[in-house]
Amino acid sequence: MKFKIALYPGDGIGPDVLAQAERVMYRVGELQDITFDCTTFDWGMDYWHKHGQLVPTDFLAQLKGMDAILLGAVGWPDILPDHETLAPLVEIRQSFDQYACVRPARLCRGLDSVLTGRSHKDIDFVVIRENSEGEYIDNGGRFKQGSDDEVAVQTAVHTRKGVERILRYAFEFAQQRRGRLTMVTKSNAMKYSYVMWDDILADIRGDYPDVKEVSKMHCDAAVMNFVRHPDEFDVVVASNLFGDLLTDLGGILGGGLGLAPSCNVNPTNEFPSMFEPVHGSAPDIAGQGIANPIACVLSLAMMLDHLQCSSASESIRQAVEAALLNGSKTPDLGGELTTEKMGDAVLAQL
Ligand code: NAI
Ligand code: MG
Repeated sequence: MKFKIALYPGDGIGPDVLAQAERVMYRVGELQDITFDCTTFDWGMDYWHKHGQLVPTDFLAQLKGMDAILLGAVGWPDILPDHETLAPLVEIRQSFDQYACVRPARLCRGLDSVLTGRSHKDIDFVVIRENSEGEYIDNGGRFKQGSDDEVAVQTAVHTRKGVERILRYAFEFAQQRRGRLTMVTKSNAMKYSYVMWDDILADIRGDYPDVKEVSKMHCDAAVMNFVRHPDEFDVVVASNLFGDLLTDLGGILGGGLGLAPSCNVNPTNEFPSMFEPVHGSAPDIAGQGIANPIACVLSLAMMLDHLQCSSASESIRQAVEAALLNGSKTPDLGGELTTEKMGDAVLAQL
């Protein structure tokens, strides 16, 4: 097997964590006879200093022929505002129709939970966030700006096509897991958009008889229940905004930002999908060599799942879990290992 992979290290701790994921990728490739034909793109703040823009004008064309994109992190808020530095990522997600954002929340064995009395047995669910429309569409305006009469309007857009495809994706995901799906909305208070979500769920659920437990939950109850009964969730599907909120909570339940992987998937495979840690460029610890590379390594595992190399991805997850169980930890988890030593610990287990 051979794959063309785009490596996009980005800014801050991005290059450090991606370097470790890259080592793991090549090692697993040797072990499992997978060839990774990688191209590294030096885009981000360094590129901006040299060329006055964050990415070249044809960056989407350069990425388009790849099988997948593995990203470190981007952003350097002291120099450029976030809505500028993150714009290329948003453009990749939208242009490549990466409409499903998948974020597992799974606490590894050997780690303490932030929830008293909970262990790895209780926290293993996946949040699927609609990634292409909803509340984050650029749709609105400000009128009489700065005056006492100022009005701001921002309108979410939910399309039947967009909602149906994310719900079907979530149903298919639940088929591969424990067959339990929870749809999170706020249809008691937002009677147009989210009642349409309810209607579409009712229309399609009969197509998935093997997903035995299908339920609806309002977003306010969902945040409470994530904390109260995390063990009752398997696959959770939500709109762009609610998925955003739920995945930060999921991230901390899964052990923190240093561990949380994520991906933006184009399920039709018409375009490459993008795999990245949930965390950002962490300027507060950048350059110190202490960032936890596990979130990026687990994002690599998700990439291998997507490329249908499940024995490779499983071996990475097992190696990560074994390394953590061994007590190998970076400072964010209370340990003392550097980013590179943490990479060594995972490689040793592989
Ligand atoms: P952040 O995720 O970069 O950092 C939040 C906190 O978590 C910091 O204290 C940081 O040190 C810690 N942290 C994050 N990743 C860690 C790791 N791997 N190991 C150990 N500790 C880790 O979020 P923040 O500070 O709000 O944003 C920094 C920049 O990153 C901003 O420019 C933001 O826009 C950008 N960002 C980029 C994302 C991306 O590239 N996909 C996602 C989120 C934020
Ligand atoms: Mg977020």
